[in-house]
Amino acid sequence: MNVVTTKKELIKHIHEYKTKQKSIGFVPTMGYLHEGHIKLLEEARKVNDIVVLSIFVNPLQFGPNEDFDSYPRNPKRDEELARQAGADLLFLPSVTEMYPEKPSYTVTVLSRVNVLCGKSREGHFDGVATVLTKLFNLIKPDRAYFGMKDAQQVAVVDGLIQEFHFPIELVPVATVREEDGLAKSSRNVYLSELERKQAPAIYRSLLAAKEKIAHGERDKEKIKTTISLTISKETDGMIDYVEILSYPGLEEINSICGKIIIAVAVKFTKARLIDNITIEV
Ligand code: PAF
Repeated sequence: MNVVTTKKELIKHIHEYKTKQKSIGFVPTMGYLHEGHIKLLEEARKVNDIVVLSIFVNPLQFGPNEDFDSYPRNPKRDEELARQAGADLLFLPSVTEMYPEKPSYTVTVLSRVNVLCGKSREGHFDGVATVLTKLFNLIKPDRAYFGMKDAQQVAVVDGLIQEFHFPIELVPVATVREEDGLAKSSRNVYLSELERKQAPAIYRSLLAAKEKIAHGERDKEKIKTTISLTISKETDGMIDYVEILSYPGLEEINSICGKIIIAVAVKFTKARLIDNITIEV
């Protein structure tokens, strides 16, 4: 596996792959790799000649009061995991390598952002779209891999690829979970021992909602209440949102039909956890 930190070196490798007509699968991450990321690398490995992984904690997608400085980082361990997972090229740029001192351009996302995490994280998806535009232009992948845990991100990237005409296939990959159902996340390390025990109730509440829908429940508010009650009863976390929307459009729905997402965010002492399920009704 080659490890590069500059655009210049990256471009040299990409040029070589393209000259040899190799297909490129791209896994963008912010590092502190866990099994969710490894699954993305494995999926990319299956169908592409070359697998490129980027690790970049992108300051532009963090709000002023968010955890940019304390976001967990472990580049040496990540490098080892990436090698084991069969990545061919690891791109590890610095902030100055990705952004000029005074940027003149950013990408603004106009739809799918005023709901779910976008509502409480103003500008977050602009930051995601901006860095991905840069990375897509540098890496020129045939396929890009994203985890469904961040379903809103998948929906936003879907729009970005379509509207900016990137010749890239978006590959959404199912959420990887701990044995007790908790979605894998780099932020799980922030949970206290007790919170870690409570956190699987989030996924259980989503499964209970799915079950209700399967048994014919179509009242959105009743389903949201069931989820909220389970989470409040079984955890000390504070519910940030419980939403049921169309997917991938992320629009309000009056009745439960078609492809929908049920998504929740819960704030614990030091970690805000998100989870979701998408279902076809
Ligand atoms: O999902 C993430 O880790 C980030 O939002 C991404 C896609 C790498 C962009 O910085």
